[in-house]
Amino acid sequence: MEKHHQMQWALITGGSSGIGLSMARCLAKKGYNIILTARREKRLVEAVISIKKEFSVETSYCVADLASPEAPNLIYLHCQKLQGKVTILINNAGYALPTPFHKTPMEDEEKFLRVLGISVIALTKLFLTDMMTQGGGKIAIVSSVAAFAPPSSIQPLYGPIKTFVNRFSEGININYNAKGITSTAICPGYTITNFHSASGVQEQMDRVPSFMKKNADRIASEGVEALLNGKKICVPTLTFKIIVFLLLILPHSLFSLFSRLLAPGRYEN
Ligand SMILES: NC(=O)c1ccc[n+]([C@@H]2O[C@H](COP(=O)([O-])OP(=O)(O)OC[C@H]3O[C@@H](n4cnc5c(N)ncnc54)[C@H](OP(=O)(O)O)[C@@H]3O)[C@@H](O)[C@H]2O)c1
Repeated sequence: MEKHHQMQWALITGGSSGIGLSMARCLAKKGYNIILTARREKRLVEAVISIKKEFSVETSYCVADLASPEAPNLIYLHCQKLQGKVTILINNAGYALPTPFHKTPMEDEEKFLRVLGISVIALTKLFLTDMMTQGGGKIAIVSSVAAFAPPSSIQPLYGPIKTFVNRFSEGININYNAKGITSTAICPGYTITNFHSASGVQEQMDRVPSFMKKNADRIASEGVEALLNGKKICVPTLTFKIIVFLLLILPHSLFSLFSRLLAPGRYEN
């Protein structure tokens, strides 16, 4: 294990399960100290204990609901109390809304956009300023293949907010690469995590062919390599690289048809 990152911290949002937790474990293996944040305290405690034990790095956790406007500041203050500096920020927390758009209260849409969009901007803004004084830093946003696809079986706002964060990530690169800061948009396809049950779309996920369902550790290790190498965009696995390539060159109407066949609109029943 490399030991030269002793006082460097990696902060991972949505670190209590799935891709975020796998990315945390990957970075801990490389010697980074780990700060996890999410809402479920029990899972965070279990995660930091096991990471500390397995990889002999420092760990810390911060319970916060990113749907609350105060959360990014709260997380930032938590990190400021630690010895050392945050050199890696991974904006990973996310979910999909389980109800049809016309039945979803506006308040839930706002929370959704806050967790997947506004909190990403707020945390990036807070940590980027410190990264500039530190002479550099690495940011990642866990986006989705949905960023490239026509909005379809997964509610109308999910794809568009992922497209938004990809463009935001590009904007960070254009403005801050010269200051030693990179932003990597990691765009996984279907990944086996808590996401589909937490978002009420497990049935749709069950219908996806198994060659399209990827393991969270695999996605995380490709994502971490891309982040550490300062890549602008990362689509983990060859399967989804091909799918994204096709999404970029073929008419979207074909994909809408394909996704309806694969996972019929969940509001049609
Ligand atoms: N799984 C897929 O097929 C897939 C595909 C493409 C992209 N993604 C993206 O990958 C990212 C991670 O998802 P995952 O698949 O790993 O799902 P997951 O296992 O459900 O993990 C989601 C994480 O986000 C946290 N989270 C959710 N709402 C939150 C809130 N309001 N405040 C703070 N934390 C919150 C959850 O923690 P708590 O519940 O403890 O708060 C959890 O740690 C998401 O951005 C998702 O959009 C997933």
